[in-house]
Amino acid sequence: MNILGINAYHGNASAAIVCDGQLVAAVEEERFNRVKYAAGFPAQAIRYCLKEAGLKLEEIDHVAVPRNPFARLGTKLFYALRMPSFARGRAKVLAKFTGVREALAAAFDTDPGRISARFHRIEHHQAHLASTFFVSPFERAALLSADGLGDFASTMWGAGSGARMEIADAIAFPHSLGLYYTAVTQYLGFLKFGDEYKVMGLAAYGQPEQLETFREIVRFDSNGRGNGFRLGLGYFVHHRTGPEMSWAEADKTPTLGKLFSSEMSRRLGRQREPEEPLEQRHRNLAASLQARLEDVYLGMLRKLAEATGLKSVCLAGGVAFNCVANGKIFDSTPFREVYVQPAAGDAGLAVGAAYYVWHQKLGKPRTFVMDHAYWGPGFTAPAIRAAIEAGGIARGGFTAAELPEEELARCAAGLIAEGKILGWFQGRAEWGPRALGNRSIVSDPRRADMKETLNRRIKHREIFRPFAPSILAEATGEWFEKSHASPFMTMAYAVRPEKRAQIPAPTHVDGTGRLQTVTHEANPRYHALISAFRDLTGVPVVLNTSFNDNEPIVCRPEEAIDCFLRTQMDALVLGDFLIERRS
Ligand SMILES: [Fe+2]
Repeated sequence: MNILGINAYHGNASAAIVCDGQLVAAVEEERFNRVKYAAGFPAQAIRYCLKEAGLKLEEIDHVAVPRNPFARLGTKLFYALRMPSFARGRAKVLAKFTGVREALAAAFDTDPGRISARFHRIEHHQAHLASTFFVSPFERAALLSADGLGDFASTMWGAGSGARMEIADAIAFPHSLGLYYTAVTQYLGFLKFGDEYKVMGLAAYGQPEQLETFREIVRFDSNGRGNGFRLGLGYFVHHRTGPEMSWAEADKTPTLGKLFSSEMSRRLGRQREPEEPLEQRHRNLAASLQARLEDVYLGMLRKLAEATGLKSVCLAGGVAFNCVANGKIFDSTPFREVYVQPAAGDAGLAVGAAYYVWHQKLGKPRTFVMDHAYWGPGFTAPAIRAAIEAGGIARGGFTAAELPEEELARCAAGLIAEGKILGWFQGRAEWGPRALGNRSIVSDPRRADMKETLNRRIKHREIFRPFAPSILAEATGEWFEKSHASPFMTMAYAVRPEKRAQIPAPTHVDGTGRLQTVTHEANPRYHALISAFRDLTGVPVVLNTSFNDNEPIVCRPEEAIDCFLRTQMDALVLGDFLIERRS
């Protein structure tokens, strides 16, 4: 049985295909159309998923779409009456949404009447919860989804057992931890869609000196639910104007209108304009924002642990990308095991909706665990060779040599140890926003100046943003104060104080690292590369940043070569080929 999941007309449009309970492919549309966080209809992602599964559109039995227009109708009507323009905007998106069958037919140049699949509409947060629990290694787990807004809710929790989830409760619009974080991110002058993680990085440079005020901005409030929070709505405008989002077009990064009110400036000082320098006041505000998020998030998790009596938790939604908060779960809650799927945000809804149909609707037993992130496009050796021949490698003054696997890892590790910046392109592309060793730029973590070098030569990011370490999983406890696996870079742990001087480049100013723990089983080649680096240097860690330069992560070998030539990387490994500057 074949189930196609589609996240359309929402940020991070994506598709996934599940065949007889096994995930075969999952990918974001942005990797194809090269528009960061692309919304719209993910036609290319769907075509790729079907190709990977070897299926025609007529062979799809179910199409799962993570939006249910009938969810929370009462709340929607209440706000539709108060905010007619918002209601009109939503109606427009909804009109697109009801046309998913038509859009799917158009993508395959066929007639909608010829699509025999059954269509299912899965409520947004239930799809989030399904995206993490049904692919987790846990038979039973507590579940929490927290994000900006989806189907008029921001938060949902419950518990999963085997092939079923039970929803305990949800928090509806306008109260939202995601919108809280976005509002203060905007107030601090970071206006682009997806900028929240920048402010999370900035928070480490400040002190939460405004925590008292932030306790008014988000308050604990169970409202009879036994768990929950409320926004201090005086600090916000979205409950009056509606959050203005643009989701409909595939060729544009989504935008979000202003969320905070003048009360924010009145209490916290003037808002920062994007071009203004960052002052200590801003860093302290970021720290206060993050500290309050952690209070509320960890507080909710403690109550969830209490209510369910479970030791494992599955997380989803944009807030589940807050690796700093996630890293504190073990010390601050009774949970002993945490699972976060690599596409915890809205892209993950495609996987969640498909698995919701397979388990919750069809009652099929669990047979799949997502233990690696490599569900995107991969390329054959001839395709890579052709890209190298066509890509101007020789004209650019580079040589390409095909090497046996072991020698490739040894040579690449040697280059990294010499301080070279290496593009590393292998196998199938990562699912989710993090490069995890198949579309990565890898460099020496021992060099304190590597962060600055990477920024100057390749990444051009704000200097306060940290770079991440990839570590051999078996060495985690020796280098970090926690050893719980973080295969998808969703946890930040403190680096052991005695090790910090050895890996200064990916150690953040607060002594933490947003680590990726790498096993041989999940990624043998990347594991071999880090092992070879350890053999040379004694350090089982490399610095890993995504293979891109202010664009979606490269997907095809042609894009990797283009990025390599455009930036000033020193060497590139593309499949079995090592490409170096001609000496
Ligand atoms: Fe969401």
